[in-house]
Amino acid sequence: MVCTFVLFWLCWWRFTGVFGESLSVTEGDSVLLQNNVATIHEDDDILWNFGAENSLIAQINSPNQFFPDERFRDRLKLDRQTGSLIITNITTQHTGRYKLEINGKKQSTKTFSVSVFAHLPIPKITRDFSQNSSSSYCSLLCSVVNVGHVTLSWYKGNSLLSSISVSDLSISLSLPLEVEYQDKNSYSCVINNPIRNQTTHLNITQLCQTHLDQGPPLVYIVLLSAAGSLLIVAAVLMYCICKKLTKTVQTQEEDITDSALCKPTTGKAKSKSNAVYENVPKK
Ligand SMILES: *[C@@H]1O[C@H](CO)[C@@H](O)[C@H](O)[C@H]1NC(C)=O
Ligand SMILES: *[C@@H]1O[C@H](CO)[C@@H](O)[C@H](O)[C@H]1NC(C)=O
Ligand SMILES: *[C@@H]1O[C@H](CO)[C@@H](O)[C@H](O)[C@H]1NC(C)=O
Ligand SMILES: *[C@@H]1O[C@H](CO)[C@@H](O)[C@H](O)[C@H]1NC(C)=O
Repeated sequence: MVCTFVLFWLCWWRFTGVFGESLSVTEGDSVLLQNNVATIHEDDDILWNFGAENSLIAQINSPNQFFPDERFRDRLKLDRQTGSLIITNITTQHTGRYKLEINGKKQSTKTFSVSVFAHLPIPKITRDFSQNSSSSYCSLLCSVVNVGHVTLSWYKGNSLLSSISVSDLSISLSLPLEVEYQDKNSYSCVINNPIRNQTTHLNITQLCQTHLDQGPPLVYIVLLSAAGSLLIVAAVLMYCICKKLTKTVQTQEEDITDSALCKPTTGKAKSKSNAVYENVPKK
């Protein structure tokens, strides 16, 4: 009897009382805070307040509209007919309590509790090379960066293996998993907040294959040989250019290019070069 009463009271409190209407949205969404408490008359004064400090963010004072709060710049639209407020491109900073106040022949109020959740990143699964490698197990990490108010979990099929939650804003999370190389189960890493989730499926063959262990050295070898070839090509090119320049100096007396890297080396060319410099008037 007492229990039923408490339950009833809690429900009533939850849906009509202190918290008003609750909305959970993702940043970037457009949110409609709908007036369903009173019909609006021509000369009603409609006020929308936000936050614990109850600061004015929108007002219709017939026939004018005001949006005095910088935090909502260009994001608010007031519906003159209904008194409803539309917040466009909402951000996490706009999480909080919104209060509608209609002052006319009679006064009505309604509150909304709006929770704005950040977009969920896609979890990234990587091989964890910092763990001791063993012949039959493969160590993995599922990671996300810059998250808040989320849970990160490993699932084997539909059953939860492990999870980690964070309530702070903007931190990085990672969750380890060890699998056998031969494991044929399907594993997935899931990030979720109260309204959304994102899943990445593990591909054991792709991440744990042993030939991938020798991956990094192979990449280095390829890179090194590529760099080596480039150097050789550059050297050959340089040599050719030098040779050509030297020839030019020898044959065309008027057209001498003075290159710091590649001076003509024959005595004849040098003397001609000097001669040209001597003709330049000194200041
Ligand atoms: C939405 O808001 C964000 C952050 O203020 C801004 O970077 C972005 O350009 C806005 N998008 C639109 C479509 O207005
Ligand atoms: C790796 O193994 C060594 C000894 O076998 C141990 O001291 C060390 O803590 C292990 N490291 C990890 C990351 O498990
Ligand atoms: C992820 O969200 C979908 C609906 O969007 C739901 O069907 C599914 O059960 C959720 N998965 C998890 C692991 O929460
Ligand atoms: C896993 O990766 C391998 C190798 O990259 C690929 O051949 C295979 O199709 C992938 N399996 C799944 C289920 O995506």
